[in-house]
Amino acid sequence: MSEESASTVNRAVLQTLESLRAAGVQQLASISAEDEEPNVEQLPATSQPLQEERAALATTLEQLQTVVAACTLCDELASTRSQTVFGVGDPKARLCFLGEAPGADEDRLGEPFVGRGGQLLDKILAACNLKREDVYLLNVLRCRPPNNRNPQEDEAQNCRQFLDRQLELVAPEFICCLGAVAAQNLLSTTVSIGRLRGKLHDYQGIQVVCTYHPAYLLRNPSAKKDAWADMKLLMREMGTPVGE
Ligand code: URA
Repeated sequence: MSEESASTVNRAVLQTLESLRAAGVQQLASISAEDEEPNVEQLPATSQPLQEERAALATTLEQLQTVVAACTLCDELASTRSQTVFGVGDPKARLCFLGEAPGADEDRLGEPFVGRGGQLLDKILAACNLKREDVYLLNVLRCRPPNNRNPQEDEAQNCRQFLDRQLELVAPEFICCLGAVAAQNLLSTTVSIGRLRGKLHDYQGIQVVCTYHPAYLLRNPSAKKDAWADMKLLMREMGTPVGE
């Protein structure tokens, strides 16, 4: 194994241990040569089929989070992340918000949408009479791309098994895609966000509304009125309309 892959694996092992500790595991049985194989879920995986198998076997979000923490499918992301950023909120939420990828703040804190964009998202939620605990937040990618560059196609593909399994486990009725990357990835389209927003889409029986990303709204406040129209459409469809 090269020095670089060894350090990626080391990092993944440390992150797995950290996520087990966060999940309340205080002790691990020691493994000697005569012992059985260690739990496959807790080992770093570098092959797509193995990861897919593990993701499919996860029957709870906690189990899936442990699998994600050990993922090293994207060399660059696995070797530059501080930690994976899984998802947060109500594990049985009716509504999921799908973003693009963790930024610097999310990479540091391990939670989606905790930076400036997240603060604006909290305000949007509040205007809809919602708190982040009422919904579920997740991203197309679970690792921060260096310098906040856009996710690459192969990275989004590697992470897709986790996105789909996470959505299966939460089983929302509605998804709100925040920005072009989220919308185009989920819906497998190259249509612009300007044309995707303002109407309902379907993803495997889940109703989908696409709107602008909070970071875009911070840079282009004049687009906030369109984002508000999208939220009103979403809330109307959910049966919890909000005022004009
Ligand atoms: N932007 C995103 O798309 N997701 C996050 O979690 C944070 C910022």
